[in-house]
Amino acid sequence: MNPKKLWGGRFSGDTNALMETFSESVSFDWRLYRQDIRGSIAHARMLSAAGVLSEDDFAAIERGLRDIEGEIDRGEFRWSEALEDVHMNIEAALTERIGDAGKRLHTGRSRNDQVATDMRLFLRDGIDRLMEVLGELQHALVELARAEAGTIMPGFTHMQSAQPVTLGHHLLAWNQMLERDYQRLMDCRGRVNVSPLGAAALAGTSYPVDREMTAKELGFDAVAENSLDAVSDRDFIIEFNAAAALVMVHLSRMAEELVLWSGDAFGFVDLGDAFCTGSSIMPQKKNPDVAELTRGKSGRVCGNLVALLTLMKGQPLTYNRDNQEDKEPLFDSLDTLELCLRVLAAMFPQVTFHREAMYRAAGRGHPTATDLADYLVRKGVPFRDAHEVVGKVVGIAAADHLALEQVPLGVMQRYSDVIESDVYDVLTLEGSVAARDHVGGTAPRQVTIAAENAARRLAQRKA
Ligand code: ARG
Repeated sequence: MNPKKLWGGRFSGDTNALMETFSESVSFDWRLYRQDIRGSIAHARMLSAAGVLSEDDFAAIERGLRDIEGEIDRGEFRWSEALEDVHMNIEAALTERIGDAGKRLHTGRSRNDQVATDMRLFLRDGIDRLMEVLGELQHALVELARAEAGTIMPGFTHMQSAQPVTLGHHLLAWNQMLERDYQRLMDCRGRVNVSPLGAAALAGTSYPVDREMTAKELGFDAVAENSLDAVSDRDFIIEFNAAAALVMVHLSRMAEELVLWSGDAFGFVDLGDAFCTGSSIMPQKKNPDVAELTRGKSGRVCGNLVALLTLMKGQPLTYNRDNQEDKEPLFDSLDTLELCLRVLAAMFPQVTFHREAMYRAAGRGHPTATDLADYLVRKGVPFRDAHEVVGKVVGIAAADHLALEQVPLGVMQRYSDVIESDVYDVLTLEGSVAARDHVGGTAPRQVTIAAENAARRLAQRKA
């Protein structure tokens, strides 16, 4: 026999079987069970403090819910599609166990404030986990940056070799993106962590509820100020997903560079055997799967953001059943992002950079031309004239297949008489990067300082 519907009073016929499958959410929202039980216990404790529930009823409810939680933890709980969602499955099981006290739990509450509460608790826990693993990934990057502070590589604009930079500087640029992501998650957490409980279906409740009490027990920072908004607002999910999409976009950009760098054309990096796979036909292959999958998975998280925005657009106040559709995108974004962060945090410490290949590549394409121009400017030549002179010298070097520091002094002096033998100090890759010795610059000395600052900031988060 089908379980009795908790809302069945005004219905006489059975629910259509297809409708039941169409409407159920328990196949995915069962994941909210811990938050649901926590919220129910807080609500019942508050009702009992307010004299709405007897102490005995509260004790039975709390015990019953904890038993059910244990059963679910152990995988012994039987979920029923006919009972629609996680909330009604748990409530029905409670009543089956403890009788009338179970039927009193829903006093002064609706599934509308209940589900909003569960989602906020679930997301808050998820954000806390993400902030933690994001920190682990940042830590791995900062450690690598420290080790590679003096490693020279080509810096690119338009994907063309532009000026030499240090690898540590590049890795710290990635860390900056992730640092902003961390800030965004933290900021978003503040708006997630607000309690809708007590808003009931939409208008509030006629029972003397103590909303501060339930908010405090559940670790919320504040109580939602308007009951209509409390049950209908899903901004907190959209906002989180926007932040998550941006993290994924950053991971995807990093991944793209790793794919390029690990390919034979660059040969800058070995991603480690433990994080690559082979080809079933080409024995020589070692594919950068982690990077490619991360890049690929960014698509679903961006897609989830669009799904959520579209879900809310056009919804009148207050709760509408549409909102049941917020769960799968949110769960998917949380799961996907956490997995990508974890695997990248595990992979980076195993990555080896090929310093000589990076150095050789950095030397191609006359990347110290700007340094020659700056040298002329320091000797009093206006920058535009210097630019012209250097263009000529680069032309000669390119025609003769020479690096700039291989062009003879006499040849350079043909284009400018201020050039002296000290010019060679600035034409080398080492001289070029060392010269950019200011806050935010690529000089090894600055990168070491920046890596230390970043490491200190990460350590302070934990404190
Ligand atoms: N499963 C529903 C959801 O996820 C719970 C709230 C249902 N509320 C209602 N009035 N039918 O949104």
